Amino acid sequence: MRRYHVTTFGCQMNAHDSERIKGMLEELGLGEAPSQADADVLVFNTCTIREKPDTKFAAHLGHAVAQKRAKPDTVIAVGGCYAEAQRERLFTLYPDVDVAFGPGSIAHLGEWLGAGGAGVSRGRFGVDERSFAGELPMHRERSFQAWVQISMGCNSKCAYCIVPAVRGRESSRRPGEIVAEVTRLAADGVREITLLGQNVNSWGRDLLPDVKTEFGELLRACDAIPGIDRIRFTSPHPKDFRAPVIAAMAECDAVCEHAHLPLQSGSSRILKLMRRTYTRERYLGLVDELRAAIPDLALTTDIIVGFPGESEHDFEHTLEVVEEVGFDGAFTFVYSPRAGTEAAAMADQVPEEVKRDRIERLIDRVQRLAHERNRARVGGVEEVLVEGPSRTDHAFLRGRTRRNTTVNYAGSALPGELVDVRIDDATSTTLRGVQAVAVAA
Ligand code: 5AD
Ligand code: SF4
Repeated sequence: MRRYHVTTFGCQMNAHDSERIKGMLEELGLGEAPSQADADVLVFNTCTIREKPDTKFAAHLGHAVAQKRAKPDTVIAVGGCYAEAQRERLFTLYPDVDVAFGPGSIAHLGEWLGAGGAGVSRGRFGVDERSFAGELPMHRERSFQAWVQISMGCNSKCAYCIVPAVRGRESSRRPGEIVAEVTRLAADGVREITLLGQNVNSWGRDLLPDVKTEFGELLRACDAIPGIDRIRFTSPHPKDFRAPVIAAMAECDAVCEHAHLPLQSGSSRILKLMRRTYTRERYLGLVDELRAAIPDLALTTDIIVGFPGESEHDFEHTLEVVEEVGFDGAFTFVYSPRAGTEAAAMADQVPEEVKRDRIERLIDRVQRLAHERNRARVGGVEEVLVEGPSRTDHAFLRGRTRRNTTVNYAGSALPGELVDVRIDDATSTTLRGVQAVAVAA
């Protein structure tokens, strides 16, 4: 049997696409290889957003090419956002690549790889042949958790972001299809779903006038599906976070008390240059509304430092907002120009050493606040969805709270079970505790 190996870079959307890629390959009769060295079909699902893909991907590809030299029937396939962004140049840059595919064109993988991976036709396809990953076979990493894609593409024009160029205009999946998929997943034993979209809060707008709906309605529909205990979603754009969604979050039992709300910058001047279309005040207003409606809400965010033109004063505004909100966690990014985006052409790029200094100060602040927020949980009991043994110490189990904090705890339960854990210690990113039943016993 020919075997495949998939290497994934980047975001959750990519990780989800990889599950579909694996499902497609298995449908073609390939088995999963334990490592790249054992595989005949090597797939790289690349990213351009969060990392410098050129260097990282090139390093990985080096091994693949050596493997292909030794075993010429090895197939190298490159997918994801980097493949799409480089669509004109990919085969010139990397002559050993056999197949290239953009996000959303995973459905066509079979045509290119041929049944069983034989008869590979060299070529590529991209954004214009998109289809929803949800309609493809899937290889899920965990039996009780699933990602569900609700839209693809993005209609925003954030000046730093390559996503609109590589993933195209926003296109929403129909509510009936999403509900049918979640119902199937629930019947399959899935208890936690994460609804995925570049901007989940604008979901449904492009379905007008055919279908009139909005994201809050989708949350309610998923909440009504028996067996689904936890609903998460990522990411909402602050500009589109409206009252019906907040009300649905507050009223639906399964919707978790967590919002990942990308801030990007705390300076209204920089937010304007970024084309985020909200101000610092509006963001803070939204945080107040969310917290008033959903007590005990966890808030996490994305922040970029060193956007072109960002002054020390602008950066201090970011620190102030971070302090004022008190995020439970944040992904922090050093601004990195992406060819073809508006910001890459802006004058006033910030020097590397200034960016470094700012990100260190930001991370310090984020960690201190997250640690405080986590320490406040000590002494309480949290509902934990068990994921398996702890990564660092196998004597402990690992799981996540509804607020999406990782917990390492002493106890006994199977992956996929919900247990109560008494929290007795905290770091800036994790909690530690003891299973509550074990305490009572
Ligand atoms: N440079 C740095 N960070 C970026 N992000 C997106 N594009 C860039 C870029 N060019 C960050 C944003 C976004 C997250 C997924 O990645 O914070 O929310
Ligand atoms: Fe990129 Fe902005 Fe769209 Fe997010 S909302 S994918 S940051 S353009």
